Amino acid sequence: MSESTIGHVVVPGTFDPVTFGHLDVIRRARRLFPQVSVAVAASVGKNGSGPIFALDERVGMLREALCEQGLEDGVSVLPFSGLLVEFCRELGAGGVVKGLRAMTDFEYELQQADLNSYMAPGLESVFVMSNPKYGYVSSSIVRELASLGTDVGFLVPSCVERHLRDHFRS
Ligand code: COA
Repeated sequence: MSESTIGHVVVPGTFDPVTFGHLDVIRRARRLFPQVSVAVAASVGKNGSGPIFALDERVGMLREALCEQGLEDGVSVLPFSGLLVEFCRELGAGGVVKGLRAMTDFEYELQQADLNSYMAPGLESVFVMSNPKYGYVSSSIVRELASLGTDVGFLVPSCVERHLRDHFRS
């Protein structure tokens, strides 16, 4: 008996803030699957420091960015806290899609995928190779440049740039 195909996937992340790299992964996930839920993690944060943007701000920026880029069709944005596999189960999603930029991403992603697979054996982990154009992009690079007053319009949509300007001005 064949197993059912996957119609709904989750693209998870912290999105602090969303970049063109993330949007490229979301766009490609949508090309592969009819329904995509972008899951924005409350995230306690690495190195003991939390995200600079509150959860509702990150969700709002993603919705604005998807709209600005014309990517809203079949894509929803939802906040989550707790285990990713639990969130996928609640949504009825059959897979998780993430982007791989470099070998350094691979080891970390493999570890997460293995753990998720152990906790939820039916949940598929799907990886798309990041567009080389965005291979060097990360949210922390965007935050650093923006904090120094540098134009980040080549890394993030204009709505996100505005939020960054407001954040670092205040
Ligand atoms: N393009 C651009 N940047 C990308 C990217 C891409 N394709 N893929 C990742 N990044 C960057 C992000 O910008 C971020 O950059 P930063 O470190 O400079 O801020 C960095 O990679 C990490 O991304 P993040 O969104 O924090 O993802 P993550 O891989 O660390 O995973 C969760 C975050 C929410 C998916 C993960 O922590 C999780 O599942 N948490 C829930 C709790 C849980 O279930 N834990 C067990 C999981 S095994």
